[in-house]
Amino acid sequence: MPSKSFIVNINHKIRPFNKVIEVDSDKSISIRCFLIGAISQNISRAKNVLESEDVYSAIECLKKLGVKIKKNKKKDYTIYGKGLGSLFAKKNTVLNFGNSGTLARLLIGILSTTDNIELKIRGDHSLNRRSMRKLINLMSEFGATFLPKNKFQFPLKMISTELPIAINYRAGVSAQLKSAVILAGLNSYGTTTIIENEKSRDHTENILKLISNAIKIRKDKKKFILIEGKKTLNPLNIKVPGDPSSAAFFVALTLLNENSLLKINNVGLNPTRTGFYRILKKGGASINFFKMKKENNENVGNILVRSSKLKPLKVSKKYYVNSTDEYPILFVIAGLTKGVSTFNGISDLVNKESNRIKEMQNVLRQVGIKSFSFKDKLKIYGRGMIDASNKKIIVPNLGDHRICMSSFILAILTGAKTKIRNFDTVYTSSPSFLEIIRNLGAKFEIQK
Ligand code: S3P
Repeated sequence: MPSKSFIVNINHKIRPFNKVIEVDSDKSISIRCFLIGAISQNISRAKNVLESEDVYSAIECLKKLGVKIKKNKKKDYTIYGKGLGSLFAKKNTVLNFGNSGTLARLLIGILSTTDNIELKIRGDHSLNRRSMRKLINLMSEFGATFLPKNKFQFPLKMISTELPIAINYRAGVSAQLKSAVILAGLNSYGTTTIIENEKSRDHTENILKLISNAIKIRKDKKKFILIEGKKTLNPLNIKVPGDPSSAAFFVALTLLNENSLLKINNVGLNPTRTGFYRILKKGGASINFFKMKKENNENVGNILVRSSKLKPLKVSKKYYVNSTDEYPILFVIAGLTKGVSTFNGISDLVNKESNRIKEMQNVLRQVGIKSFSFKDKLKIYGRGMIDASNKKIIVPNLGDHRICMSSFILAILTGAKTKIRNFDTVYTSSPSFLEIIRNLGAKFEIQK
């Protein structure tokens, strides 16, 4: 059940802090554990999973498709796998993906090549406005049908193919599309071949490598992912690390707040996810990774971050794919760092939970930070740290968790009197955000 809607009001600046925290578990890996566990043989186990709205949507959808999932204790689940090609629900059952693009695209990947599927598919108001055109075109290549024809937004009807045949695909910046093709390929006849033009997050590949020889990765100049269809998947047993995208908000806060220091333990530091940290280090940030280890094919470690004097950020296109979710908070950092920051190659942000370029420009404008966007580029005229206690920020209901959290950080750094509507959307990815930020000393009020 989605949590009840509430507003967060902020009217205080945060003071210096020196703390050790852990952040919520990784959303991408948690959703993948449930989806892949469901199509694996036998009994899988996922520990330290994220208990957030997006993950609950994944569990609900899988239950509708006949998968048994048991909660053992907090963050610890058993998934009774049905095996490849065995998910099923009565004709015209409605699957609701909630706010989650990842769940939508990956599960549609699985279902497109599962025999005998005819379902209604939809999401919440934010997901229903996002384009599924690229996904629909790809899944149509496998043989699936989406109705009505030429409509590319939910709600839709999907009908799977009875004869799924492997495809060839040149993957771009989207890990969701790449993963959807990988998962569709698992139950197709023949070998699905993906050439990766961009190195997007590789959690799907990392999990599959642990449990099957259906996946082969070849590295030449480019990465090739080969998926041999109709091979079994063994059960998985995974412990999920902390989410580097959830950690990013606290890292940004520490860098910009004066005299502050923060240690964040047990964070996933897969290099396909740490573009944000590389961008900031290049801009002079004091951020260090330590106690690095490998767990279930994923890098995990601790982060130490200190208040830093930053240079304006010059973020070229090549960073996009490894910092996809961090642009809203990067825009806040740019706005509070003196000088002109530029972000290139960011056009995909318009199809996220909201149009993140436009919406963050709206937020920054309210505290007098100018920005200018053209084609796939954004320029932000950073003012340095400002006192905005005479200004107001209002964030409308966009259904975008990262806009809410970025605006929150901007508010407690500048003192702007801020009202963030439907803050409950933050529970899609980071249910502990308010508790952690309170522990760091932030003051706020919840209005129901
Ligand atoms: C995700 C991939 C990214 C990211 C999203 C999670 C994933 O989306 O923005 O939050 O888990 O694969 P795209 O692949 O559409 O860029």
